[in-house]
Amino acid sequence: MATNQDSRKEQAARAALEFIKPGMALGVGTGSTVNFLIDAMDRFRGDLAAVVASSRATEARLRARGFTVVELDQAGDLDLYVDGADEANKHFHLVKGGGGALTREKILAAASRKFVCIIDNSKWVATLGKFPLPVEVIPMARSWVARQFVKLRGQPVWRENFVTDNGNQILDVHNLQITNPPELESRLNQIPGIVTVGLFANRPADVILMAEDDGVKRMDRR
Ligand code: A5P
Repeated sequence: MATNQDSRKEQAARAALEFIKPGMALGVGTGSTVNFLIDAMDRFRGDLAAVVASSRATEARLRARGFTVVELDQAGDLDLYVDGADEANKHFHLVKGGGGALTREKILAAASRKFVCIIDNSKWVATLGKFPLPVEVIPMARSWVARQFVKLRGQPVWRENFVTDNGNQILDVHNLQITNPPELESRLNQIPGIVTVGLFANRPADVILMAEDDGVKRMDRR
Protein backbone atom coordinates (compact mmCIF):
# COMPACT_ATOMS: atom_id res chain seq x y z
CA MET A 1 0.00 0.00 0.00
CA ALA A 2 1.36 3.44 -0.90
CA THR A 3 2.22 5.57 2.13
CA ASN A 4 2.26 9.35 2.44
CA GLN A 5 6.02 9.17 2.27
CA ASP A 6 5.83 7.17 -0.98
CA SER A 7 3.52 9.78 -2.40
CA ARG A 8 5.93 12.57 -1.45
CA LYS A 9 8.84 10.64 -2.97
CA GLU A 10 6.86 10.31 -6.18
CA GLN A 11 6.06 14.03 -6.21
CA ALA A 12 9.73 14.94 -5.78
CA ALA A 13 10.70 12.51 -8.54
CA ARG A 14 8.12 13.91 -10.94
CA ALA A 15 9.33 17.45 -10.24
CA ALA A 16 12.75 16.41 -11.55
CA LEU A 17 11.32 15.61 -14.99
CA GLU A 18 11.42 19.28 -15.98
CA PHE A 19 15.23 19.23 -15.68
CA ILE A 20 15.58 16.42 -18.25
CA LYS A 21 15.87 17.65 -21.83
CA PRO A 22 16.21 15.74 -25.11
CA GLY A 23 19.83 15.21 -26.12
CA MET A 24 21.15 15.22 -22.57
CA ALA A 25 23.61 12.75 -21.08
CA LEU A 26 21.78 11.72 -17.91
CA GLY A 27 22.99 9.99 -14.78
CA VAL A 28 20.37 8.11 -12.79
CA GLY A 29 20.74 7.49 -9.06
CA THR A 30 19.55 4.62 -6.89
CA GLY A 31 16.73 4.07 -4.43
CA SER A 32 13.00 4.14 -4.02
CA THR A 33 12.65 7.85 -4.89
CA VAL A 34 14.65 7.43 -8.09
CA ASN A 35 12.55 4.38 -8.95
CA PHE A 36 9.54 6.71 -9.19
CA LEU A 37 11.56 8.86 -11.59
CA ILE A 38 12.52 5.92 -13.78
CA ASP A 39 8.88 4.84 -13.92
CA ALA A 40 7.87 8.33 -15.09
CA MET A 41 10.63 8.78 -17.70
CA ASP A 42 9.12 6.86 -20.61
CA ARG A 43 8.69 9.93 -22.80
CA PHE A 44 12.49 10.39 -22.91
CA ARG A 45 13.17 6.89 -24.24
CA GLY A 46 15.30 7.21 -27.39
CA ASP A 47 15.68 10.99 -26.92
CA LEU A 48 18.67 11.11 -24.58
CA ALA A 49 22.29 11.17 -25.77
CA ALA A 50 23.25 8.71 -23.02
CA VAL A 51 21.83 7.20 -19.87
CA VAL A 52 24.26 6.05 -17.15
CA ALA A 53 23.13 4.09 -14.08
CA SER A 54 24.58 4.39 -10.56
CA SER A 55 23.87 0.75 -9.70
CA ARG A 56 23.01 -2.59 -11.18
CA ALA A 57 19.51 -2.26 -9.71
CA THR A 58 18.94 1.05 -11.49
CA GLU A 59 20.43 -0.33 -14.70
CA ALA A 60 18.02 -3.29 -14.59
CA ARG A 61 15.02 -1.05 -13.97
CA LEU A 62 16.00 1.30 -16.81
CA ARG A 63 16.52 -1.59 -19.21
CA ALA A 64 13.19 -3.12 -18.20
CA ARG A 65 11.57 0.14 -19.31
CA GLY A 66 13.34 0.04 -22.65
CA PHE A 67 16.22 2.43 -22.03
CA THR A 68 19.67 1.75 -23.42
CA VAL A 69 22.16 2.12 -20.58
CA VAL A 70 25.84 2.87 -21.24
CA GLU A 71 28.97 3.05 -19.09
CA LEU A 72 30.28 6.43 -17.96
CA ASP A 73 33.35 5.84 -20.13
CA GLN A 74 31.14 5.84 -23.22
CA ALA A 75 29.01 8.78 -22.13
CA GLY A 76 31.74 11.24 -21.13
CA ASP A 77 30.72 14.08 -18.82
CA LEU A 78 27.06 14.14 -17.84
CA ASP A 79 24.69 17.08 -18.17
CA LEU A 80 22.51 16.06 -15.28
CA TYR A 81 22.51 13.64 -12.37
CA VAL A 82 19.30 12.96 -10.44
CA ASP A 83 19.41 11.04 -7.19
CA GLY A 84 17.82 10.77 -3.76
CA ALA A 85 19.48 11.08 -0.35
CA ASP A 86 19.20 9.78 3.17
CA GLU A 87 19.78 13.21 4.71
CA ALA A 88 20.14 16.75 3.37
CA ASN A 89 20.92 20.09 5.03
CA LYS A 90 20.63 23.76 4.10
CA HIS A 91 24.16 23.78 2.67
CA PHE A 92 23.08 21.06 0.17
CA HIS A 93 25.39 18.58 1.89
CA LEU A 94 24.01 15.05 1.81
CA VAL A 95 24.34 11.67 3.45
CA LYS A 96 23.87 8.92 0.88
CA GLY A 97 24.43 5.21 0.59
CA GLY A 98 21.52 3.71 2.47
CA GLY A 99 21.08 1.50 -0.58
CA GLY A 100 24.82 0.79 -0.75
CA ALA A 101 25.39 2.45 -4.13
CA LEU A 102 27.37 5.41 -2.78
CA THR A 103 30.58 4.89 -4.75
CA ARG A 104 29.02 4.90 -8.20
CA GLU A 105 26.65 7.65 -7.05
CA LYS A 106 29.55 9.84 -6.00
CA ILE A 107 31.32 9.24 -9.30
CA LEU A 108 28.25 10.20 -11.31
CA ALA A 109 27.62 13.28 -9.14
CA ALA A 110 31.22 14.37 -9.72
CA ALA A 111 30.94 13.78 -13.45
CA SER A 112 27.77 15.85 -13.79
CA ARG A 113 27.34 19.53 -14.54
CA LYS A 114 24.17 19.62 -12.46
CA PHE A 115 23.11 17.41 -9.53
CA VAL A 116 19.43 17.49 -8.69
CA CYS A 117 18.58 15.79 -5.41
CA ILE A 118 15.03 14.53 -4.89
CA ILE A 119 13.81 13.94 -1.34
CA ASP A 120 10.74 13.91 0.83
CA ASN A 121 10.81 16.22 3.84
CA SER A 122 11.68 13.40 6.29
CA LYS A 123 15.25 13.65 4.92
CA TRP A 124 15.73 17.32 5.83
CA VAL A 125 17.95 17.84 8.90
CA ALA A 126 19.70 20.70 10.69
CA THR A 127 22.83 18.58 11.30
CA LEU A 128 23.87 15.50 9.35
CA GLY A 129 24.57 12.29 11.22
CA LYS A 130 21.35 10.96 12.67
CA PHE A 131 21.22 8.55 9.75
CA PRO A 132 24.23 6.22 10.19
CA LEU A 133 26.97 7.22 7.76
CA PRO A 134 27.50 4.51 5.10
CA VAL A 135 31.14 3.83 4.26
CA GLU A 136 32.24 1.42 1.53
CA VAL A 137 35.41 -0.45 2.51
CA ILE A 138 37.79 -2.94 0.95
CA PRO A 139 36.91 -6.24 2.69
CA MET A 140 40.38 -6.94 4.13
CA ALA A 141 40.45 -3.50 5.77
CA ARG A 142 37.00 -3.63 7.34
CA SER A 143 37.97 -4.20 10.98
CA TRP A 144 40.89 -1.78 10.82
CA VAL A 145 38.73 0.95 9.31
CA ALA A 146 36.05 0.24 11.92
CA ARG A 147 38.63 0.87 14.66
CA GLN A 148 39.50 4.24 13.13
CA PHE A 149 35.83 5.23 13.42
CA VAL A 150 35.77 4.17 17.07
CA LYS A 151 38.66 6.61 17.65
CA LEU A 152 36.42 9.30 16.14
CA ARG A 153 33.70 8.28 18.65
CA GLY A 154 31.54 6.68 15.98
CA GLN A 155 29.95 3.27 16.32
CA PRO A 156 30.58 1.30 13.15
CA VAL A 157 28.23 -1.55 12.31
CA TRP A 158 29.09 -4.00 9.54
CA ARG A 159 26.21 -4.33 7.05
CA GLU A 160 26.34 -8.12 7.06
CA ASN A 161 25.31 -10.19 4.06
CA PHE A 162 25.66 -7.17 1.79
CA VAL A 163 28.20 -6.84 -1.02
CA THR A 164 28.37 -3.66 -3.09
CA ASP A 165 28.28 -3.63 -6.88
CA ASN A 166 32.06 -3.19 -6.62
CA GLY A 167 32.57 -6.33 -4.51
CA ASN A 168 33.19 -4.41 -1.27
CA GLN A 169 31.56 -4.16 2.15
CA ILE A 170 29.69 -1.42 4.00
CA LEU A 171 30.14 -0.05 7.50
CA ASP A 172 27.23 2.02 8.82
CA VAL A 173 28.71 4.44 11.31
CA HIS A 174 26.34 5.59 14.05
CA ASN A 175 26.54 8.64 16.30
CA LEU A 176 29.14 10.67 14.39
CA GLN A 177 29.06 14.38 15.15
CA ILE A 178 29.06 15.80 11.62
CA THR A 179 29.44 19.48 12.41
CA ASN A 180 31.73 20.21 9.44
CA PRO A 181 30.77 17.84 6.61
CA PRO A 182 33.37 18.96 3.99
CA GLU A 183 36.19 18.69 6.52
CA LEU A 184 35.07 15.28 7.77
CA GLU A 185 34.63 13.99 4.23
CA SER A 186 38.17 15.08 3.30
CA ARG A 187 39.60 13.61 6.48
CA LEU A 188 37.89 10.25 6.07
CA ASN A 189 39.02 10.11 2.44
CA GLN A 190 42.59 9.84 3.77
CA ILE A 191 41.97 6.56 5.61
CA PRO A 192 43.42 3.61 3.68
CA GLY A 193 40.84 0.93 3.01
CA ILE A 194 37.94 3.35 2.66
CA VAL A 195 36.67 3.35 -0.90
CA THR A 196 33.94 5.95 -0.46
CA VAL A 197 32.34 7.86 2.38
CA GLY A 198 28.62 8.52 2.05
CA LEU A 199 29.08 12.21 2.80
CA PHE A 200 28.42 14.32 -0.28
CA ALA A 201 29.71 17.70 0.90
CA ASN A 202 32.69 18.58 -1.30
CA ARG A 203 30.43 17.93 -4.28
CA PRO A 204 27.04 18.92 -2.83
CA ALA A 205 23.71 18.95 -4.67
CA ASP A 206 23.04 21.95 -6.92
CA VAL A 207 19.28 21.76 -6.59
CA ILE A 208 17.14 20.08 -3.95
CA LEU A 209 13.53 19.22 -4.76
CA MET A 210 11.84 18.46 -1.46
CA ALA A 211 8.29 17.17 -1.35
CA GLU A 212 6.23 18.41 1.57
CA ASP A 213 2.53 18.05 2.40
CA ASP A 214 1.63 21.11 0.33
CA GLY A 215 3.83 20.48 -2.73
CA VAL A 216 7.42 20.37 -3.86
CA LYS A 217 9.84 23.04 -2.67
CA ARG A 218 12.73 23.87 -5.01
CA MET A 219 16.00 25.09 -3.49
CA ASP A 220 18.97 26.23 -5.64
CA ARG A 221 22.50 26.40 -4.30
CA ARG A 222 24.15 29.77 -4.90
C1 A5P B 1 21.45 4.65 -2.43
O1 A5P B 1 22.71 4.12 -2.21
C2 A5P B 1 21.24 5.88 -1.64
O2 A5P B 1 22.24 6.83 -1.71
C3 A5P B 1 19.91 6.51 -1.94
O3 A5P B 1 20.02 7.60 -2.78
C4 A5P B 1 19.31 6.94 -0.69
O4 A5P B 1 19.44 5.85 0.22
C5 A5P B 1 17.87 7.36 -0.83
O5 A5P B 1 17.05 6.26 -0.99
P1 A5P B 1 15.48 6.35 -1.02
O6 A5P B 1 15.10 7.17 -2.19
O7 A5P B 1 15.05 4.91 -1.16
O8 A5P B 1 15.03 6.95 0.27
